[in-house]
Amino acid sequence: MFYETAKNNHGLKYNPFKSCIVPRPIAWITTLNDDGTHNCAPYSFFNGVAADPPMVMYATNGKQPMGNHKDSISNIRKNGEFVVNIVPYSAKDKMNETTAPLSPNESEVEVSKLETKLSKIVSPVRLSISPIHLECKVYKIIDLPSLVSNEYNGMVLGNVVGIHINDDVIDDGKVNLDKIKPLSRLGYLDYSVVDNIFEMHRPEGSPRPDQVKNRKDT
Ligand SMILES: Cc1cc2nc3c(=O)[nH]c(=O)nc-3n(C[C@H](O)[C@H](O)[C@H](O)COP(=O)(O)O)c2cc1C
Repeated sequence: MFYETAKNNHGLKYNPFKSCIVPRPIAWITTLNDDGTHNCAPYSFFNGVAADPPMVMYATNGKQPMGNHKDSISNIRKNGEFVVNIVPYSAKDKMNETTAPLSPNESEVEVSKLETKLSKIVSPVRLSISPIHLECKVYKIIDLPSLVSNEYNGMVLGNVVGIHINDDVIDDGKVNLDKIKPLSRLGYLDYSVVDNIFEMHRPEGSPRPDQVKNRKDT
């Protein structure tokens, strides 16, 4: 089948677009409102975009059912900081709870009784249930087009200024993803989990992807 996205003439029960880009990692994002409310919400239009310096992006789509902008982007616009908490499979139900559209002065962190730890560089907190936290400062916010009037689509690009990795998920100098089993998002209401890892070597002469070359500051 083929369909033109402008016509949306796929003829299927549900829009298949998100099912074509899978699995998407989930950024469980914590931010801080001006009044001290700790916000958290999952975002799966999320990825790393550069390694040196490390940078991430996430995209926010639409507004809350009450008509206000999503709290995460509103808070990020105010103070330029956010934390990406990686979601282990064991936290899937808690993560799902925090997608509820609470008002800006209500905290998903409190409502979902999530324990937190202070971050080292930024002010939003880290979720203790996550084994990996990326402390981020905004690099740029890019407005994106929206086909729905009065809605907002945008992409937040962030510099990762600090990374926490729980010592108990580091084995032999490597992050042991078998212990984390990161959750990922598929289309519809479907999810997947990283639980089948294999190694593949690149052709001879290719640089290792985790090797940093010619770095200015080392
Ligand atoms: C797994 C998952 C992934 C999501 N990904 C996105 C996303 O990429 N972009 C988005 O705008 N909303 C996404 N949502 C919906 C937001 O989590 C939801 O709108 C939430 O209420 C926003 O909270 P906030 O207003 O506190 O930022 C996702 C929800 C779930 C459960």
